[in-house]
This record gives sequence, structure tokens and C-alpha cells, in this order.
Amino acid sequence: MSDEYIRRSELRWSGLALAALAVMLAIIILSAIALAIHPPSNIEMVDPATLHLSGEFIESNLGTTAADDDTITVRIVATQFAFVPRCAAVPAGKPVTIRMAAPDVVHGIIVIGTNVNTMVVPGFISQVRTVFAQPGDYLMPCHEYCGLGHSEMWGTIRVLPQTEWPQRPGKVDCDAR
Ligand code: CUA
Repeated sequence: MSDEYIRRSELRWSGLALAALAVMLAIIILSAIALAIHPPSNIEMVDPATLHLSGEFIESNLGTTAADDDTITVRIVATQFAFVPRCAAVPAGKPVTIRMAAPDVVHGIIVIGTNVNTMVVPGFISQVRTVFAQPGDYLMPCHEYCGLGHSEMWGTIRVLPQTEWPQRPGKVDCDAR
């Protein structure tokens, strides 16, 4: 194999790699402009600076609320370095809406063993709808690096059997049973 052959071959392969990079960059830029890429699942804005002062995410409104029409909404604030509340109760086998917001930096939640997995970006409300099939305590660690206490940041989703779920509307906490 001549030196010239090797040189041409290397040039061809680097050209190919550059072309692939250019295509990927173009896709990212074009989709960001044309499709208005936002955090996944929900485009709802909230002011992270006043989260705790008024509106949906004030402390007394956090946790699980069963509405009159039987819809179940869990509201959680993800903050350095805890979830508020630490534990949220939900019923098994019923649709649940989880809404989350962050006042400081980007966090993320994954509920181990379920399909709940989202980032929580300051300025946006992250919303996930799901049904928890099996009762039990599910670990919910933060999965976006958010600072020195990241590894200590985790919560629990307590899935209660429907027989233990309170029959009246209102707030439900993890000690409901
Ligand atoms: Cu919050 Cu990592």
C-alpha cells in the first residue's frame, strides 16, 4: 500500500466524519428553530422566583390531592436537595397526574420500576400522567446532577391499594392508612 493511497483513504474517512457532524448539527439547529424545542411533556410556564409565595406550588398545596371528580394530582417541588414533600401517596390502578416545579436549578425524577421519568426545569411545570399498577413504596431519586447534595436527593411514591385509599376527596399523605 502506497503512502499516497493511505493519505487519500484517511482524507476520505475524515471527510465522511465531518459530513456526519454537519448533518447532525443541522438537524439540531433546524429542529430547535422550526419545532420550538421545549422541555418534554408539557409547556406550562411558572415563575421559579415566586413559586413558594403564590399559586399552585405554595407549601400548603403540595402533595396529593384527590378532587371531587376523583382525579388525583400530585404536586412536588424539586429543590436543592430534597423533594417537597418527601413522600407522596397515590392509589394503585387509577390515573394519576404528577406536576412538578423547581425554584433553583434543573432536577430530574425517575420513579424506579415505572415509566415516570422527566426533567424538572426551572420556569416550566413538568407534568407526567401515569397509572401505578402495583402497590408498594417506589424510590424516586433525582437523576439530573444538581449540586453537591445531588446523591442525597430522593423521595418516595407510596402506591396504596385501592382498599386503603381514602374514599373522601381532599389531601392524602403517606400516613393516610
Ligand atoms: Cu436534584 Cu440532582
